Amino acid sequence: MSQHDRLLIIDFGSQVTQLIARRLRELSVYCEIHPFNRVDDAFLRSFAPRAVIFSGGPASVFAEGAPMPPESVFDLGVPILGICYGQQLMMHCLGGRVERGDGTAEFGRAHVSPTEERLDLLQGWFEAGREQVWMSHGDHVAALAPGFRVFGTSPGAPFAITADPARHFYAVQFHPEVHHTPGGAKLLGNFIRIAGFSGDWTMGAYRDEAIRKIRDQVGDGKVICGLSGGVDSSVAAVLIHEAIGDQLTCVFVDHGLLRQGEAEQVVTMFRDHYNIPLIHADESELFLTALEGVSDPERKRKIIGGLFIDVFQKHATEVGGARFLAQGTLYPDVIESVSFSGGPSVTIKSHHNVGGLPEKMGLKLVEPLRELFKDEVRALGRELGLPEAFIARHPFPGPGLAIRCPGEITRDKLAILRKADAIYIDQIRRHGLYNAIWQAFAAILPVRTVGVMGDGRTYDYALALRAVTSVDGMTADSYPFDHDFLSETATRIINEVPGINRVFYDVTSKPPGTIEME
Ligand code: XMP
Repeated sequence: MSQHDRLLIIDFGSQVTQLIARRLRELSVYCEIHPFNRVDDAFLRSFAPRAVIFSGGPASVFAEGAPMPPESVFDLGVPILGICYGQQLMMHCLGGRVERGDGTAEFGRAHVSPTEERLDLLQGWFEAGREQVWMSHGDHVAALAPGFRVFGTSPGAPFAITADPARHFYAVQFHPEVHHTPGGAKLLGNFIRIAGFSGDWTMGAYRDEAIRKIRDQVGDGKVICGLSGGVDSSVAAVLIHEAIGDQLTCVFVDHGLLRQGEAEQVVTMFRDHYNIPLIHADESELFLTALEGVSDPERKRKIIGGLFIDVFQKHATEVGGARFLAQGTLYPDVIESVSFSGGPSVTIKSHHNVGGLPEKMGLKLVEPLRELFKDEVRALGRELGLPEAFIARHPFPGPGLAIRCPGEITRDKLAILRKADAIYIDQIRRHGLYNAIWQAFAAILPVRTVGVMGDGRTYDYALALRAVTSVDGMTADSYPFDHDFLSETATRIINEVPGINRVFYDVTSKPPGTIEME
């Protein structure tokens, strides 16, 4: 557990609970999200939060078995902020009254105006009159709990901002954590200032603490780490190497489905630049032979996943005596999310980069990034001196080019695809667009079309270009390149890559499309 001042977010199942944590981390506050049904008196005592936030949630306090916090939370003597359902809970638990929504649910943008009395939580608010907020609720507060007063109202929510200032209990009907509440970060900043957080959650501090923890966990044991070349596993490897030096060995499995120059870049960086012991397992023949004649997307994925585990295990065994497996698991992968289907059960998302291996090989996991969000991993990478070009790299999927080569994979097609993809990415970089795009790549389509080059007829492959904007890869929009960029890129590819005579740009969003082709 972290040594920092800690804020506890009790999750009642809102879709945006993670955003509360992100906003707080941006304010240099260490916080953890825990589902309401895992938070009891003993947990509260051991967690010892400096402040507590109740998230929103889809339930109604009237529902049978409605999610509730333990009553003792109100006796901790620390500031509490209730958001949306969290506000209703506070009123319900502390002696106020909540009314059932009578079909007048309020969703979306609303404007809150101040009342006469000033509130420490609202410092910097209402300077330009009303504040825009984002509402999403069915039930509403009808009578305040003793000690609470109103500090902000909106046309649809007379109790938009309420507080018992003496106890530092705050309850708001809207969501301060979302983008559509522009003053939300200021409000959360005031809350943590009131709670007395010192803002000690910095990447420098995290790095030192993580190194100490890795040393404590591992002792003089050996650690193996599967390196994909992606940001997460790379940052984990460099951090662990700082902690325990050559007790760490990295295994980089080259499945023959990497991009142009990728294997060399990874090997050079880790072996030459960082001097990290690295096994470069060039298993491309094995993978490509196993994939011959296979065109079904799921079969391809299964073959690659299965072989990956076999190969990793083979090379990890070579290290001899390893007791730990390092993984770049991130915080979103370990947050237990609240599920309301079939009662207040808990769904735990598990994350296995090398599925099943730890159990099979009797290895313990070392996961030094499990408290971090992706943007924090990038910040830690910078702190560790990883090159910017590496840190800002677009995501690249485990099955690699296999899922960018719909239909049968051949060595010829892969060679064509590598060249075309490199030119496309070069174009994007030359035009200064790389960082504005979440992910960009080329895919070789399983279709040949007729063209004419010089005086001759061609009959070559078609190439699809994909570029998307996204926040988390769950939804995405096609990137709006201008036409000059696209035609210049298509011309370069067709001129420089034998085997391609036609280029398409994929304008499908996700949903309904996916980002990758398969
Ligand atoms: P899709 O294609 O599902 O992709 O819209 C969403 C994001 O996930 C990446 N992706 C993968 N990453 N192993 C990975 O490590 C996989 O099997 C895999 N499949 C898709 C994809 O590149 C995109 O960023």
